[in-house]
Amino acid sequence: MDFVCFALIILLICIIIHVLRSFVSKTRKTNYKLPPGPSPLPIIGNLLELGDKPHKSLAKLAKLHGPIMSLKLGQITTVVVSSAEMAKEVLLTHDHFLSNRTIPQSVSVLNHENYSLAFMPVTPLWRDLRKICNGQLFAHKTLDASQDVRRNKVQHLIAEIKESSQKGEAVDIGTAVFKTTINLLSNTIFSVDLVQSAGIAGEFKDLVTNITKFVGTPNLADYFPILKRVDPQGIKRRQAKNVEKVLDIFDRLVNQRLKLRENTNVDSHNDMLDALLNISTENKMMDKTIIEHLSHDLFVAGTDTTTSTLEWAMTELVLNPEVMSKATKELELTIGRGKPVEESDITKLPYLQAILKETFRLHPPVPLLLPRKADRDVNICGYIIPKDAQVLVNVWTIGRDSSIWGNPNLFYPERFLVSDIDVKGRNFELAPFGGGRRICPGMQLAMRMLLLMLGSLINTFDWKLEDGMSIEDVDIDDKFGITLQKAQPLRVVPVKINF
Ligand code: HEM
Repeated sequence: MDFVCFALIILLICIIIHVLRSFVSKTRKTNYKLPPGPSPLPIIGNLLELGDKPHKSLAKLAKLHGPIMSLKLGQITTVVVSSAEMAKEVLLTHDHFLSNRTIPQSVSVLNHENYSLAFMPVTPLWRDLRKICNGQLFAHKTLDASQDVRRNKVQHLIAEIKESSQKGEAVDIGTAVFKTTINLLSNTIFSVDLVQSAGIAGEFKDLVTNITKFVGTPNLADYFPILKRVDPQGIKRRQAKNVEKVLDIFDRLVNQRLKLRENTNVDSHNDMLDALLNISTENKMMDKTIIEHLSHDLFVAGTDTTTSTLEWAMTELVLNPEVMSKATKELELTIGRGKPVEESDITKLPYLQAILKETFRLHPPVPLLLPRKADRDVNICGYIIPKDAQVLVNVWTIGRDSSIWGNPNLFYPERFLVSDIDVKGRNFELAPFGGGRRICPGMQLAMRMLLLMLGSLINTFDWKLEDGMSIEDVDIDDKFGITLQKAQPLRVVPVKINF
């Protein structure tokens, strides 16, 4: 059978399914009211309306249809909420029935969907893993105990940037921070550098980048489940190779550690891996497979998000010299200009914290959060989110809502100095880490890494644009994926300060 024939058969099957589903849903619709939304085209629904910047297209649609709207993305009914009140309904009030996820095909490889903390349904295994994350891996005490390794990695970053400053070279902030973030995580989890370490070197960085890229690539098979087996864009096939390689790297690291522990019979490193292996001696659930898939998720969830936040924060500081100057003044008065910043200094730096909140408000790294799925029909303000619908929370729109934020497009950290709003999942006006049961478990680690890196970058160097560039030339366009990246990398020249 040639390709055209095959494509026509698939199209025909899609049409039949669509007609049958419309018939069934028309009969059901008499019983409930879907949120309003744009009219769907046959078969493809509203897919074309998403464009290449869905967070912005959905913001425009929300202006027309309201803060809770429904769309048809291919065959998938999707409800998008775009106000703080509606986000609270989804993430808090109805969290119980909206805590599972729709699972992209790019995640359903090598059984990862069954072991992935980020995508598995709310099951006893998920609960156990969350308990371990909250009570042990990311507990304050554990993070306090591992701050030396992070201090060390940030000193490496600063040393590399010093070299650039001596040569008068611009630094690509995203690339430098991406590498440091992987090493911050890999040292916190495995006590090794996963970038620029012998053997596994730079490959790891590319693997993490590619895995995130594929999770964020629109995949026809996610919108038309009938295409799952066909994998028309080859995303699943290519993703399987990436995930396999990453799991292999972790398998080697876990085996090495098991051997070491056999010989020494003690916690050799006292890092997250030791903590997980200790748990595995008492709790059979925590086996090698789980440890390796969990490690996969921690790296994939933690790297791009942290990197893009820092790149946006630095971009805003370069674009707003008066904010930069206030931030450096605060560091000078609290720590001393040029002195190393410590995680324990963070509570004494309210302006630096406000800068980070303002960055999250304007550039939330996960603009639509991770997709939730309704376990049953859920009634929100008289509208029904039908069972199995996908639910997205557009935190990008909420961050720019003029009914919440005065001058919403202005980068103005001062707004947070006079407000109690924080990012911990209690204030739905600012929810870059999500909320409810599925709130990001790595939030505390992310905040420490970000404030430590940002504080260190601006307390050690002055930053200027490359020769011939002015503020107006700095590109502020974004690129949508599972994370919201800068479309063009920020390149700035570090000038070592004299102190
Ligand atoms: C700026 C940094 C980060 C941001 C903005 C961020 C944001 C998010 C968001 C929005 C979610 C989904 C929450 C929801 O559904 O309500 C999430 C989940 C998750 N994040 Fe993060 N994250 C960051 C850093 C990290 C780090 C450093 C780690 C770990 C090392 C991490 C691990 C995870 C995991 C495992 C999940 C899945 C949790 C679950 O589904 O139960 N994240 N994150």
